[in-house]
Amino acid sequence: MTSFDLDNPIFELSSSTDKNAWTLRHAVEGVQIFGGIGSGKTSGSGRMLALKYLSAGFGGLVLTVKADEKQAWQEYCRITKRENDLVILEPRGEHSFNFLQYESSHSDKDGSSTENIVEVLKTVIRAGETKDSGKSDDAFWETALDMLIFNVIDLCKLAYDKVSVKEMYDIVQSIPKGKEQLKSATEEDKRKAFHKAMSAALGKVTRKIDAWNVHSRTPTGSVSLKIQKAMKKRCLTPCPKPVCWHLSINSSLII
Ligand SMILES: Nc1ncnc2c1ncn2[C@@H]1O[C@H](COP(=O)(O)OP(=O)(O)OP(=O)(O)O)[C@@H](O)[C@H]1O
Ligand SMILES: [Mg+2]
Repeated sequence: MTSFDLDNPIFELSSSTDKNAWTLRHAVEGVQIFGGIGSGKTSGSGRMLALKYLSAGFGGLVLTVKADEKQAWQEYCRITKRENDLVILEPRGEHSFNFLQYESSHSDKDGSSTENIVEVLKTVIRAGETKDSGKSDDAFWETALDMLIFNVIDLCKLAYDKVSVKEMYDIVQSIPKGKEQLKSATEEDKRKAFHKAMSAALGKVTRKIDAWNVHSRTPTGSVSLKIQKAMKKRCLTPCPKPVCWHLSINSSLII
């Protein structure tokens, strides 16, 4: 990895009485540019800083809603010969960013957190909501939404080791409406996303438990059978919460 000396000057700042350098340290500590609307913040100081930073090898993330900002940064990258480093994320563009996949693959290293993914997803949902969308502030619905997202993310992770909006959507659409529907699943139901995910999750958990069972030479017989029974019992137990199929794979708890 390239190392940077924070005291390296990027450009000179001088007045009639003084002369100073703007260093890497100043750059990473932060810059704010103040000025009236249309006073030249972007085309003056913004452009100069962008060109200096790009020339010095900086990376960064530019967020913009202004249509001409993309062209401006394309021009900056052309001038500083950084075109190959430029990745543009935009609707129907060449590149995309699966924030759920990113968050799920990173958080697991630190002992996972479905909570983090739930928060990311809720932030994205809220960002797309308008203030007058008529959404209820009722805590019941907030909690129900949290629980639904939480459980669907856990199910996706257990079944497929990854989370995607498409998979979550398909699972939510095919969740049984109650324990009767869950018990009397037809062949057609079993081909739907919810049942497919449940059976993939069950299979993976069972295989892991079997491997663990063999490895630890437990004398108590098939632990996976117990797990299967316990999961089945949990799934069919009437649950006061809106999502009745909460799948909690905490083996010590279930065993
Ligand atoms: N010193 C200058 N002389 C003449 N025109 C200028 C000067 N500085 C900026 N402009 C022009 O003024 C217009 C607005 O500049 P710019 O977009 O940089 O302002 P801004 O402060 O970033 O505006 P906003 O508040 O909308 O972000 C641009 O067309 C730019 O070319
Ligand atoms: Mg501007």
